[in-house]
Amino acid sequence: MSALRSLPELPDVVTATPKPTVYIETYGCQMNVADSELMYGKLVAHGYAPVDAPDGADVILVNTCAIRENAETRVIGRLGELRRFMKPDTIVGVTGCMAQRLGARVLDQARHVSLVVGPDGYRALPALLDGARRGEKFTATDFDIEEHYEDVVARRFEGVKAWIPVQRGCDYRCTYCIVPFTRGPERSRKLADVVREVQQVVEQGLSEVVLLGQTVNSYHDGAHDFADLLRAVGTVDGIRRVRYTSPHPNDFSDRVIEAMATTPTVCEHVHLPMQSGSTSMLKRMLRRYSREDYLECVARMRAAIPGLALTTDIIVGFPGETDEEFEDTLSLCREVRFDDAFMFKFSAREGTPATRMPPEWTIPDDVVATRFDRLVRTVRGISRENNLGRLGETMELLIEKVARDGELLQGRSRDFKTVMVPADAARIGEYLTVTLTGTTGATFTGTPVTERRERAPLPMMGA
Ligand code: SAH
Ligand code: SF4
Ligand code: F3S
Repeated sequence: MSALRSLPELPDVVTATPKPTVYIETYGCQMNVADSELMYGKLVAHGYAPVDAPDGADVILVNTCAIRENAETRVIGRLGELRRFMKPDTIVGVTGCMAQRLGARVLDQARHVSLVVGPDGYRALPALLDGARRGEKFTATDFDIEEHYEDVVARRFEGVKAWIPVQRGCDYRCTYCIVPFTRGPERSRKLADVVREVQQVVEQGLSEVVLLGQTVNSYHDGAHDFADLLRAVGTVDGIRRVRYTSPHPNDFSDRVIEAMATTPTVCEHVHLPMQSGSTSMLKRMLRRYSREDYLECVARMRAAIPGLALTTDIIVGFPGETDEEFEDTLSLCREVRFDDAFMFKFSAREGTPATRMPPEWTIPDDVVATRFDRLVRTVRGISRENNLGRLGETMELLIEKVARDGELLQGRSRDFKTVMVPADAARIGEYLTVTLTGTTGATFTGTPVTERRERAPLPMMGA
């Protein structure tokens, strides 16, 4: 993920000493984006001014991801590059999952870094930065299972929707995954605290929220489950769209599906990571469901929620993947007909159980590459067919931003389709009804449905 782009204008306050500036660059998942917003919030409350470029910033924080090796390689490269933006007194800190995973090793590898702070340590940032200014170096990587940053007001930069963490950490132990090591044990925020934040978001003029957690549908605050949370958030005055990511197939109780189906603001889209279509492979991944369980979960959701869009995550080349197991993944894609999928080549992560599997189970790079290409072609082919079948449909979009071509606007439907429309940039943040007129296979183009005008009165005969 690239750096956060649009920062709101800073207030025109004339002060004797200028505020120190802070720039945060964010990598990884939405949880990291939400954490960066919390860090900005914490630092603004301590007198820092956010800036949208590293050039000359007093503090540069790189909020990192450790999910695959290439995510870390990118950050290491970027840390080197950032040197050229540093003034002599600039403080550079590394935060997030890679900071948690590597700890003090980051300080050894990058001498210009003064702070290494894991996801549960952001509360201490102002004090750590004060220490760094005195020339000290710090590593803060303790987990704090009470930490939800409840009293920190997030400084949001995404224009039209709000990321709301509802759960931190993960108690699953999928054998490929570093997240339980980098994010610690699972804990849920109190429902009332989440609802309060959603109400504040509405007061700020936003009407779409995305509830975040590693296995978000296992949410439980001691008194309320995820079904309660969906209902409570979905009925906050002024909320028009509720999304959530990522659920785990094992935590889709009938209660949760029922809450989704009967809360009109909850969007008809579920991102349901499948990882593999083979039961034996799922067992080695310790996903705790079989191919049949996954299909049964999909069937229950589709029966309850008409028009449900489904997207997924898939890993290719996990240790021991046989041709047959890979074919099972392709066939599950054909059976479910996902709207879209994020596909990843397996990346061995230090300390995870997958690294202790027999070395002869390692899949050669060329086999992984061939399988990956086949999977991408299969998934893209299916989504193209799905999307061609949608042309002519009319749907409501929330307009998110100017599209990459610089001319059209880009919006999202409730079922997570990306649609480009010709409209005035002033409509960003508004809802617009469009008819789908074309598709690239992945995204759509649409035309706004013109609002029906009152017919002009006919000229009077003989006047
Ligand atoms: N909590 C989410 C996943 C978060 S990580 C869940 O359980 O669904 C996002 C995705 O990255 C995962 O779904 C998986 O497909 C992929 N991923 C995680 N670890 C990986 C690894 N070691 N190699 C390749 N892909 C990985
Ligand atoms: Fe990782 Fe599995 Fe937890 Fe998802 S559920 S974060 S894949 S351990
Ligand atoms: Fe990456 Fe950490 Fe998210 S490893 S995917 S930033 S939870």
